Amino acid sequence: MIGLLRDGIEPAVIAEALKVLGEVVPAAEITRYDLGAARWHATGELLPESVLGELRQHDAILLGAVGDPSVPSGILERGLLLRLRFELDHHVNLRPARLYPGVRSPLADPPEIDMVVVREGTEGPYAGNGGLLRKDTPHEIATEVSINTSFGVERVVRDAFARAAARPRRHLTLVHKTNVLTHAGSLWSRVVEEVSLQHPDVTVAYQHVDAATIHMVTDPGRYDVIVTDNLFGDILTDLAAAVTGGIGLAASGNMDVTRRNPSMFEPVHGSAPDIAGQGIADPTAAVLSVALLLDHLGEHESSRRIEASVAFDLATRDHQSPGATYAIGDRLAALVSSNVRTG
Ligand code: NAD
Ligand code: IPM
Ligand code: MN
Repeated sequence: MIGLLRDGIEPAVIAEALKVLGEVVPAAEITRYDLGAARWHATGELLPESVLGELRQHDAILLGAVGDPSVPSGILERGLLLRLRFELDHHVNLRPARLYPGVRSPLADPPEIDMVVVREGTEGPYAGNGGLLRKDTPHEIATEVSINTSFGVERVVRDAFARAAARPRRHLTLVHKTNVLTHAGSLWSRVVEEVSLQHPDVTVAYQHVDAATIHMVTDPGRYDVIVTDNLFGDILTDLAAAVTGGIGLAASGNMDVTRRNPSMFEPVHGSAPDIAGQGIADPTAAVLSVALLLDHLGEHESSRRIEASVAFDLATRDHQSPGATYAIGDRLAALVSSNVRTG
């Protein structure tokens, strides 16, 4: 059973993702929950307890995007998306970034790029520990406290090492800002060092996040697995998406790797209000998110078929005019149904 959430202004990419899902798992039981801007305007509700309870019963969740210019910034993002990530303990935010053959990177001479960013998902400045003092005075103070627990850091670092150990290059980069964020930085560095002792086969590097943005552009081929905190991971993965052909291709999984709660899969991108309603959003990120979802549920063959179809489409696509949202979805669905193999 697959639960589905979406915001009102980005149903198009989810429609295509479901089209493709329907080709590989026609019997999937799908529950749709209309949450987001429209519901908030109509009822003031963001994520009712009853909906959260029902979502917990699902095997996985597919989310399109939240966020709408008509709603004050942060209401939907915190009240819906982040609340789901926190309530369902999505501590591993998995964000692969691969430059597929045929895809044009904005880099002049791109190397092979195939990395996975393991972004911590439940802590950091996202934890909501902050406040305003002396509001509306000239001495107003705003704080956003970054929370880093040894439990939270260790579990995501362990996950990242395990993923690195299972990949051919077995290389892990910790990205942080240990030269300024000395408290959190020391915790992250210590944990990486400790866990590395159990993975002598994985080589470890460290980069400050500012330098990582340079290398993400000048030498992205150096990255294999990156482990980093919630905020750095958010920023780095938009950049990683950009250098691998654009945000329209970037998929993600918000995982509770203990499997006590359903994991949630979503494109890295948001609701794209600047192009909403024009029928031009690329649904590929949403389709690849379905592939991640199926892989997580053990449907490896279905997942592989979807990824192979995306790879084939990207290799043969006219990238200047890739087609309308529905046309890309139609192509991918047709490829999946004919079970194209690209090797
Ligand atoms: P965004 O990702 O929505 O858009 C950034 C840029 O990428 C825009 O120019 C947009 O047109 C383009 N883009 C995004 N998705 C695309 C696609 N599938 N195909 C082609 N182009 C695409 O980020 P933003 O503009 O900063 O945020 C818009 C809203 O979305 C905000 O409310 C934000 O909080 C929210 N948001 C939600 C999520 C999420 O639900 N996971 C993620 C990011 C942003
Ligand atoms: C993302 C988004 C979210 C984040 C926002 C909308 C809360 O940017 O999924 O990357 O910062 O995690
Ligand atoms: Mn983001």
